[in-house]
Amino acid sequence: MLNVDDAILSRRSVRAFRPDPVSQETVAHILEVSSRAPSGTNTQPWKVHVLTGNSLKRVSESVLTAFREEPATHTNDRPHYMEKWRDPYLARRRKVGWDLYNLMGIKRGEREKTQQFHSENYRFFGAPVGLLFTIDRDMGWMSWLDYGMFIQNICIAARGQGLHTCPQASWGQYHKILEKELELVEPEMVHVGMSLGYEDTSALPNKLETVREPISAFAVFHT
Ligand SMILES: Cc1cc2nc3c(=O)[nH]c(=O)nc-3n(C[C@H](O)[C@H](O)[C@H](O)COP(=O)(O)O)c2cc1C
Repeated sequence: MLNVDDAILSRRSVRAFRPDPVSQETVAHILEVSSRAPSGTNTQPWKVHVLTGNSLKRVSESVLTAFREEPATHTNDRPHYMEKWRDPYLARRRKVGWDLYNLMGIKRGEREKTQQFHSENYRFFGAPVGLLFTIDRDMGWMSWLDYGMFIQNICIAARGQGLHTCPQASWGQYHKILEKELELVEPEMVHVGMSLGYEDTSALPNKLETVREPISAFAVFHT
């Protein structure tokens, strides 16, 4: 059993998984534990579609086809980040992107290699379990905050089972395909996805070490 600090500190976004299966009982356990996340007025705004085996393959292939053939026709349901990027967020975004591409040996302008690596998102990076999170689109921003707590709980509870995760906003671009595949009915919309499985420790992208600002950059201690 990991202690809380170890579970948090050992979580990283893993971008290459071993194919070893994860049992439905283990996934159910992680989700049950994670559902203890707090939510404003206990609204619990989360819903999870768990994909494995054939369902994962089917959804993955549908999205990969669109990614290859008609990416420009697919856009996010709503802005994911800042509409107009500025520092310090832009600099942080660029750093993690280039650190990852450097590790992979992908140079500036190598579009095909970049696309190839990006497409791994839509294979859940080879993980045996893909999670697609949905939310009712009329939920307010507090519920989106609740949702983040639930998703973080999954990342941490997964560590308790020796598993790793990668939260993925990238699925949002193909929400129309996913809504069809998952037979979603309004107002249920796709929020984000997540890969879940055992880390391939030998894979290059998993050597990435991300940095964080020191607490002096984001915390103010009032006395
Ligand atoms: C909401 C959210 C969406 C993300 N979307 C993606 C994604 O689509 N693809 C990806 O490779 N990583 C994605 N990430 C992972 C981030 O890049 C990662 O959390 C960040 O660079 C910090 O690295 P770490 O998670 O390894 O500490 C996402 C993370 C979060 C929290």
